[in-house]
Amino acid sequence: MVRILMVCLGNICRSPMAEYVMRHLVRQAGLEREIAVDSAATSRYQIGDLPHRGTQRVLAEHGIPCGRHRARQIVPSDYQRYDLIIGMDDENCEDILYLLRGDPQHKVRSLLDWTDHPRDIADPWYTGDFETTYADVLEGCKALLMHLTR
Ligand code: 4NP
Repeated sequence: MVRILMVCLGNICRSPMAEYVMRHLVRQAGLEREIAVDSAATSRYQIGDLPHRGTQRVLAEHGIPCGRHRARQIVPSDYQRYDLIIGMDDENCEDILYLLRGDPQHKVRSLLDWTDHPRDIADPWYTGDFETTYADVLEGCKALLMHLTR
């Protein structure tokens, strides 16, 4: 079983979107027993909150179930609980390394690292553009699934 933790600043826009998109791809591939996906925040800003309405809307528009996830902050014990800890941008990755006090097992990556064009996923909290975020998240999750199954 590969355990994946998707991480962003607030855990209400990008990382829950990545969690539910990845779960959807995993379900479609029949790999629910092989790959598990959760999400968490680097900050405490939105702890306890549901996914942002924009994330809920864009997932619904693409026929992807959105659960009643509540935002939580990453904790040091997550380092042993997960095999891959995936930030949505470089700042998330730097914050993860700080909060987890390093990455001796090289578990921390950025979601678009496995694509042909590694880059940050723009935060729709600031841009309001959840559709572009969805396209980036889908590209990253597809590339990650290819990486895990090849
Ligand atoms: P996310 O977006 O990191 O993609 O969940 C944000 C959500 C909330 C805040 C910032 C970014 N905030 O400042 O509260």
